[in-house]
Amino acid sequence: MSSMANERRAGDAAGNRNPDWYERGLAHVWLPYGQMKTMAPPLPVVATEGSRIMLADGRVLIDGIASWWTACHGYNHPHIRAAVERQLASLPHVMFGGLVHEPALRLADRLAVLLPGDLDRVFFSESGSVAVEIALKMALQYWINRGIRTRRRFVAFTGGYHGDTTGAMAVSEAMHGELRALVPEHIHVALPQDEESAAAFDRLLARQADEIAAIVVEPLVQGAGGMRFHAPEVLRHLRAAADRHDVLLIFDEIFTGFGRTGTLFACDAAGVVPDIVTLSKALTGGTLPLAATVARPRVFEAFWSDDPAHALMHGPTYMANALGCAAANASLDLFAQEPRLAQVRAMSAALARGLAACRGLAGVKDVRVQGAIGVVELEKITDLDALRRRFIAAGVFIRPFGSVVYLTPAFTIDDEDLSVLIRAVLEVLSERIW
Ligand SMILES: Cc1ncc(COP(=O)(O)O)c(C=O)c1O
Repeated sequence: MSSMANERRAGDAAGNRNPDWYERGLAHVWLPYGQMKTMAPPLPVVATEGSRIMLADGRVLIDGIASWWTACHGYNHPHIRAAVERQLASLPHVMFGGLVHEPALRLADRLAVLLPGDLDRVFFSESGSVAVEIALKMALQYWINRGIRTRRRFVAFTGGYHGDTTGAMAVSEAMHGELRALVPEHIHVALPQDEESAAAFDRLLARQADEIAAIVVEPLVQGAGGMRFHAPEVLRHLRAAADRHDVLLIFDEIFTGFGRTGTLFACDAAGVVPDIVTLSKALTGGTLPLAATVARPRVFEAFWSDDPAHALMHGPTYMANALGCAAANASLDLFAQEPRLAQVRAMSAALARGLAACRGLAGVKDVRVQGAIGVVELEKITDLDALRRRFIAAGVFIRPFGSVVYLTPAFTIDDEDLSVLIRAVLEVLSERIW
């Protein structure tokens, strides 16, 4: 009964018809992360505003996810909208080969100032996975340009997720199932979280450094792999081990960047400067696709040469899209002008207070909060679809995956809406329908 095939013509439970575009188009679209035959039909959205998602049938959902963690200022923020509208009128896009424009160069300059240490050379692309591909490519070629051809492998971590393109898949543990066997084999280990595993990690690098290009990690929070947290000390240990064995360190801040974990970047909390960092998601405040791979001079200088073969041969068609860069600049204005990190601190406290009650519920394994991320990990979710539907029936958009139910709202959500989200988690999880 819950399949898309059965329900897509039916409209919602109240009998409302779905719009014509939905009826006609759904048969021609391939949806993400799911078995099309059995998945619950997607909800037709007609508008967004702040922390609200408006559905075609008139229902309004309070959003607990901020569109895969992008819409940090809420939807349709007038400052971002105005910046994009102005940009659209003068220069929506121009190729970045042989041409540059103000929004991109301003953004590169601002990112270099905001990022810690000497992370100061920005390569733009249009999605997180591509930003990761570029980081991996930079790291491989860094060694080749220095005459070292043996360093072809990456060290990545259990539970890590870095995207869906093949290079990113190869350094991810989460999500890709059997396809992982088809991509280059890298070195996957557990994050070194105690003295013993830190020593083992160090021994691994001592043994194999001459075949390792870089270590790749999501700093502080492994997101799509299960919303798992680790301490800043882990990152300090990775930095020290990378330095000791002369291996590059890549931080994938696509999820954690721009305040989500409590500091502007997760690396700020650890006082660690990676050699390369990847950014996307909240970079444009959730309005347009844009990503950046940012390198330190140490990396960039290995490409600076009279030899054309030492150049980075990469250039996505829509890289540095002017609309995306205008949105990102406007988003950075908001971080400067409005109290975003204070809002994250307040949300963190409210999530910790509110979700604590879940600890007493049967089947709850763990409750944890880091910055504006609240997680209730269950022993097991047997009916993910039922749980997702129940949240929608409760008037909230909360999308559990694996064994976690989590909240990553916009930083601007008001107290009342945040408490509706928290209450919904408590109520729905106490029903044991999952
Ligand atoms: C840490 C991390 N890296 C990379 C990606 C991939 O980004 P995109 O979906 O924009 O390709 C994601 C997406 O969830 C992510 O969380």
